[in-house]
Amino acid sequence: MAKKVKITETVLRDGHQSLCATRMRYSQMEPMLEELDKIGYKSLEAWGGATFDSCLRFLDEDPWERLDNLKARLKTPIQMLLRGQNLLGYNHYSDDVVTRFVQKASKHGVGVFRIFDALNDIRNLKTAIDAALACPEKPEVQGCLVYTVSPVHNNDYFVDLSKKLVDMGVHSICIKDMSGLLKPYVAEDLVKKLKASLPDNIPVQLHTHYTSGFGSMTYLKAIEAGVDVIDCALAPFALDTSQPCTETMVATLEGTEYDTGLDRQAMTPISKHFLKVKQELINEFGLKGYFDVNPNVLDFQIPGGMLSNLANQLKEAGMENKYQDLLDEMPRVRKDAGYPPLVTPSSQIVGTMATFNVMTGERYKMVPKEFKDLARGMFGKTPVEVDHDFLTKTLKVAENEIITDIKAEDAKAHSFADFEKELHEKGFLNPTEEDVLSYALFPQVAEEFFKKHYAPMTAYKKA
Ligand code: CO
Repeated sequence: MAKKVKITETVLRDGHQSLCATRMRYSQMEPMLEELDKIGYKSLEAWGGATFDSCLRFLDEDPWERLDNLKARLKTPIQMLLRGQNLLGYNHYSDDVVTRFVQKASKHGVGVFRIFDALNDIRNLKTAIDAALACPEKPEVQGCLVYTVSPVHNNDYFVDLSKKLVDMGVHSICIKDMSGLLKPYVAEDLVKKLKASLPDNIPVQLHTHYTSGFGSMTYLKAIEAGVDVIDCALAPFALDTSQPCTETMVATLEGTEYDTGLDRQAMTPISKHFLKVKQELINEFGLKGYFDVNPNVLDFQIPGGMLSNLANQLKEAGMENKYQDLLDEMPRVRKDAGYPPLVTPSSQIVGTMATFNVMTGERYKMVPKEFKDLARGMFGKTPVEVDHDFLTKTLKVAENEIITDIKAEDAKAHSFADFEKELHEKGFLNPTEEDVLSYALFPQVAEEFFKKHYAPMTAYKKA
């Protein structure tokens, strides 16, 4: 029986986020939108992740306007990546901010909400999932299994998590393997288990990165096991720390029962354009653009981009010779922190803590606030409970600082009205709801953007 595999194209989001520091402009996408739309992708990932921040901070673009422009030219569903209660920022937001953000994103054209939480704590997903399910535009709501490896993370754990997400009403499940840790035969087993235990109408999608070199093999085994959709990037933005290559996967499946039915020739001019764009981005922003495959990521589990940051921190402190110590320290700190998957923001938090331990030569002598927060439950429940003595004696967290009710914490966060009031007080008198949301996520960056683009003392756009 033919089982066509579908493809989500990531060139407009994860491709350039992974290889070119999220610097692709809308103007560099526009010439190929019509062609991309004709291919027949299941969806085009084009918004969310780091793009929102990058638009405001580096590219002088209004992310909402970018979404409108994309929507005006695309019939293929536009997919966004959303960090649950963190939205696209780094804090927990109040439920009303989360709900309004999701509603606005849907209204402006997001057709697929891919929602994840760094700790796989479903309490952090519920508000965003409920909001997306209630949108009148009826977007697809996809729940993520943030993939990692640890003594508690095995395929049964992820199957169990997927059932909870389906119970919450999601339309599809994504295995999100952000550091390329999912091995081919493990993927085969996981997909088989998911397909056997989830209802037939729940598609399973796989998202991986090539970081450790498994990418295409992992996809092939997952396809043979029945995966419905794979995430791929067109050749110039594929491989290395990005996704497997679209053209390669399409060619691999041609003439088989899994044939995608997509026209590989039609992709050639698109890839040609994006090869040019990649070179422009490398030149303009002084980027490296290429990364070595690193199978050791399996042991230290640090996402690619972060590894070079940590190496630089050590170098600046004149402690380059401690690099191996740092790689050895990472898994220990991760264990102490209750085995969080390493993805934004937990990757940075665990990495910084490990760096401090190595630099001071004494474990937990200096503890950053964020690490304490992670350990005491400010980001949700860690996969393994953090040892009580470690928490209270080593990290010196008081009993009353230990958080068990994360929703009570969310309720203390700024409301939409609080952010609106803050903008008023700063002299922006008529912010749109979108402006308030941009400000809620990235206060300083959004303020700078407004100052540049709006007439003084109002949020009306400059002519
Ligand atoms: Co990714």
